[in-house]
Amino acid sequence: MEKFEINGGKKLFGEVEISGSKNAVLPIMAASILAEGKSIIHNVPRLEDVFTMIKILTYLGANVKFDNQTLEIDSSGINKFDAPYEFVKTMRASISFLGPLIAKFKKAEFSLPGGCVIGSRPIDLHIKGLQELGADIKISDGYIVADAENGLKGRYIFLGGNFGSSVLATCNLMCAAVFAQGETIIEFAACEPEVIDLALYLSAMGAKISGIGSPYLKIEGVKTLKSVEWTVIPDRIETGTFILAGAITSGKIKVKKCQPYHLGAFLEKITACGITCEKGKDYIEVSGKSFWQATDIVTLPYPGFPTDLQAQMMAFLCLADGVSVVTEKIFPERFIHVSELNRLGANIILNGATAIIRGVKKFYGAKVMASDLRASAALVLAGLMAEGKTEVSRIYHLRRGYENFEKKLQNLGAEIITGKE
Ligand code: EPZ
Repeated sequence: MEKFEINGGKKLFGEVEISGSKNAVLPIMAASILAEGKSIIHNVPRLEDVFTMIKILTYLGANVKFDNQTLEIDSSGINKFDAPYEFVKTMRASISFLGPLIAKFKKAEFSLPGGCVIGSRPIDLHIKGLQELGADIKISDGYIVADAENGLKGRYIFLGGNFGSSVLATCNLMCAAVFAQGETIIEFAACEPEVIDLALYLSAMGAKISGIGSPYLKIEGVKTLKSVEWTVIPDRIETGTFILAGAITSGKIKVKKCQPYHLGAFLEKITACGITCEKGKDYIEVSGKSFWQATDIVTLPYPGFPTDLQAQMMAFLCLADGVSVVTEKIFPERFIHVSELNRLGANIILNGATAIIRGVKKFYGAKVMASDLRASAALVLAGLMAEGKTEVSRIYHLRRGYENFEKKLQNLGAEIITGKE
């Protein structure tokens, strides 16, 4: 297995271009099967999760070409409607096929997604919404067996859960509703930029969706959708990760090809720490400081502070002046990175879904282990600033969501190489 070897203490300077958004492209790839003909999707990042989605599309019978950040998906050959466990266990986002399969083929058989290190990852909201639309859902032998032989009928669906809205449940139900008879209302829909990108993609295909970007979506069922060309939005989580790389190393980085307005809550917080971020139309230039203040973070559904930047922000706060309190409201167990950060010299105490971080002067290089995508990025950020050498093992987690991560960091002056464990 691969590992990163990082010699810390180098300030990062230069420019980095952000790749297309993982969390936008995955539901869009699934939704492309709703179209007749060949869909073309641009700005697609070369990530493990994208390759997994391609494997599932191919397994279902679609024809997929992926060349130079552009995907070509021809779904006319789809003749399977199930997703076996071996696909779903590696990537929860494969659940994004549930809505499109039921909408187009009126059936789907899907392995229940397993849990993961960030939490139990239930899908009760997905199932509830599909049942409201008239799908008959059974759970047997770890599989969801969905049947809608009489088609789906538009309904009012309240999609709020104990943790607020659900991103992929909103994506699934929007897709399920596009061919439903009549009008579907989804109240408490997720408003993440990735959900908006999917809604705009569906609308470009001919879907009738109003309230896009709001928690109140209205979808008027149509008969068919046409295939279109689409360009995926930039990855706001990768953007935040590179801004933190500039800030934690007290360097200066211009993060290009990003959408600054997707990061309001994050930029508010890093500015509160005393870091300067100059925003342009499609770039953010971060100028690091030799010290920064502590701040408190509460993760919330968009436009609140994104849970996917919580671990990376925590690495940054470990070196702040003062005490920071991080409360994880989306995935209360999403703290697997805490013990590894403490191995690097951080001083973090966990109390349920809250972490208390007492700022320390420095990190000390050590061997640490990646455990999930965003926790891995947090460990790399810490390693960039640690005295001496840090080894991050199991970096296959990172390959799922960061394109050319070490190359982009090397181009900014980081001493990071890939080795074999
Ligand atoms: C999406 O996951 C993202 N993944 C996650 O990013 C992100 O952390 C999450 O949204 C929250 O923003 C993709 O888009 C591929 P949720 P999703 O349903 O949709 C609870 C990354 O690192 N819930 O919005 O699966 C759930 O337990 C990944 O890129 C239910 O209770 O997350 C959580 O507490 C990690 N019942 C909350 O809702 C359900 O049926 C939000 O989860 C569904 C979710």
